[in-house]
Amino acid sequence: MDPPPTTASATPSDDELIAAARAAQERAHSPYSGVRVGAALVADDGRVFTGCNVENASLGLTMCAERTALGRAVSEGARAFRACVISTDRARPLFPCGACRQALREFGRTLRILCVGAGGARVERTLEEMLPDSFGPEDLDGGG
Ligand code: THU
Repeated sequence: MDPPPTTASATPSDDELIAAARAAQERAHSPYSGVRVGAALVADDGRVFTGCNVENASLGLTMCAERTALGRAVSEGARAFRACVISTDRARPLFPCGACRQALREFGRTLRILCVGAGGARVERTLEEMLPDSFGPEDLDGGG
């Protein structure tokens, strides 16, 4: 049986989050690019939501791992996040694409992002570093 979509833990360690992202990475559907990506998104309450990239024969409909995880998290009621771990089967850590940066920005600027390559190389940033001068809900009437 598949594991449940979320696991609750007060303070998941980086190693636990990397393991969760790796497990999702193994479930990637990426027959076109051959790139496997996993994401583990930690909500403020400690719940961890994972996602993998889901490619499509039309190519343009491809879902990145980060947005898969974000959609699952928001669907379960999470709205504030502490960290997002992104793992890949590529040697070098893979940074979130522009679309994913903006999608994550919807829920805050301060998110910690930890990118992990196949061999374990890690690069850490904040979302604000990756998306400076960002547009967000505060810029719209009624947003933020
Ligand atoms: N990919 C992600 O899952 N996240 C990113 O932030 C960048 C790219 C996926 C999409 C596609 O399936 C594969 O990596 C190659 O672009």
